[in-house]
Amino acid sequence: MEKILIIDFGGQYNQLIARRVRECNVYCEVKPWTAPLEELKAFDPIGILFTGGPNSVYLETSPHVDPEIFTWGVPILGICYGCQLIAHALGGQVTPAQDDSAREYGKTVTYYDTACKLFRGLPEEGVSWMSHGDYMAKVPEGFSLTAHSDACPNVAIADEKRGFYGVQFHPEVSHTQFGVDILRNFLYEICGAKGDWTMGDYKNTAIAQLREKVGTGKVLLALSGGVDSSVAAALLAEAVGSQLTCVFVDHGLMRLNEGDEVENAFAQWDIHFLRVDAEDRFLRKLAGVDEPERKRKIIGEEFIRVFEAEAKKVGAVDFLAQGTIYPDVIESGAGDAAVIKSHHNVGGLPDFVDFKEIVEPLRMLFKDEVRQLGRELGLPEYLVSRQPFPGPGLAIRIIGDITKEKADTLRLADAIFREEMASAGQDKHANQYFAVLTNTRSVGVMGDGRTYDYTLALRAVTTSDFMTADWARIPYDLLDRVSTRIVNEVGGINRIVYDITSKPPATIEWE
Ligand code: XMP
Repeated sequence: MEKILIIDFGGQYNQLIARRVRECNVYCEVKPWTAPLEELKAFDPIGILFTGGPNSVYLETSPHVDPEIFTWGVPILGICYGCQLIAHALGGQVTPAQDDSAREYGKTVTYYDTACKLFRGLPEEGVSWMSHGDYMAKVPEGFSLTAHSDACPNVAIADEKRGFYGVQFHPEVSHTQFGVDILRNFLYEICGAKGDWTMGDYKNTAIAQLREKVGTGKVLLALSGGVDSSVAAALLAEAVGSQLTCVFVDHGLMRLNEGDEVENAFAQWDIHFLRVDAEDRFLRKLAGVDEPERKRKIIGEEFIRVFEAEAKKVGAVDFLAQGTIYPDVIESGAGDAAVIKSHHNVGGLPDFVDFKEIVEPLRMLFKDEVRQLGRELGLPEYLVSRQPFPGPGLAIRIIGDITKEKADTLRLADAIFREEMASAGQDKHANQYFAVLTNTRSVGVMGDGRTYDYTLALRAVTTSDFMTADWARIPYDLLDRVSTRIVNEVGGINRIVYDITSKPPATIEWE
């Protein structure tokens, strides 16, 4: 398989570069600049990308690469800091920008030399996203200037003979108009990629690798019903079916029919599927608790206890499987990331369960790739394209104390909201949407009688990263339909409100 190496110099867009490369159907991995040169060489890339970074290359303490990398005969594209690093390492000169005009931030009109392979097929001018305070005062010998802006004569440099390219802007961000074309040119025109990274192929390779690693060993997986653990389970089921035990702890705070949906999805494989109906147990522990953090803690701890009890019945296993995905690995800075994450993901399970090794079959995949793999494996679309659902489930969407009655009420109302959102096509626009059962009761009138029932809040947000979010502008007539249906079809609710706060200052969940 052809591979691209991305050397990370601490840039905020390192993950984005990797995603873009994979979207071009070329496999890549991000490795920190501190990785040993032998490791980078052994990776055997067809091309190398240097990411941006917050430092200045001319400072001795700044991240760098062993110059030997320039003798490998492998094409290199440096982005921002990476571009300056190429210039600095090969005899050019990078200095702080002398005046404000040479410093560039934000959207900048850029003029491309389309004779350069990197810009082949592009219009001669386009907007690019800049973010650099340093300036290449002198470009190294052998390099020519291949793009400029009104303020800066050397926005891009190239030594086409040796296959070294640098751009001061960020082709990976969506603000750069022809960014993907530029990356594609690097991959296909310069590195000679054929584009062999497809999920179908990956699935087969991953299955073969899992079979080899697991051998005749036994594997145990804690299944939450979320996308990651479901896809990990499906992949393992396909690879080592009868050696796999999935423990699905149903804490009784899932959405309507969710437990059955998860169970049904795995009926097609010959695996040991243990569904633990722990609703009573969880509700007993949660009775009378209204403080959000305590709810979370109780559920986390109880989850471990239930899983532990089931794991004991299974006995010793060789592998504990987890659904860790690539963003977790990159964010934790590679290296020790696996271990930190393993404990974090399952709340300390490895301390309780008798296993020899951890296996993380999705470790190298981005979320959208995980979803694609799920589809390849034949998981149903409702599981694969599921919106995020918090581990503590409806417990943090029932404000105040939790009872089975309240959970049932919320489940029905939430299902109506989701159904109407989907039939209005709004599920494509909102990234997360759900109902919240508030703790407020108010007076209403139904028929000829007075009611004193709960207020239900509807929440729908648009967001790309869930760190910030905006409330979704869904149509009034949709809200009207949802409101009418819920009040008519679900007992115990006589008032519906729509949450119109963004995050910040609110959060997406209410607790
Ligand atoms: P907030 O409410 O912090 O939520 O804006 C951001 C995203 O995280 C999800 N979320 C959780 N996920 N366990 C989880 O697995 C949790 O305890 C939890 N709390 C919030 C939330 O659904 C949203 O997508």
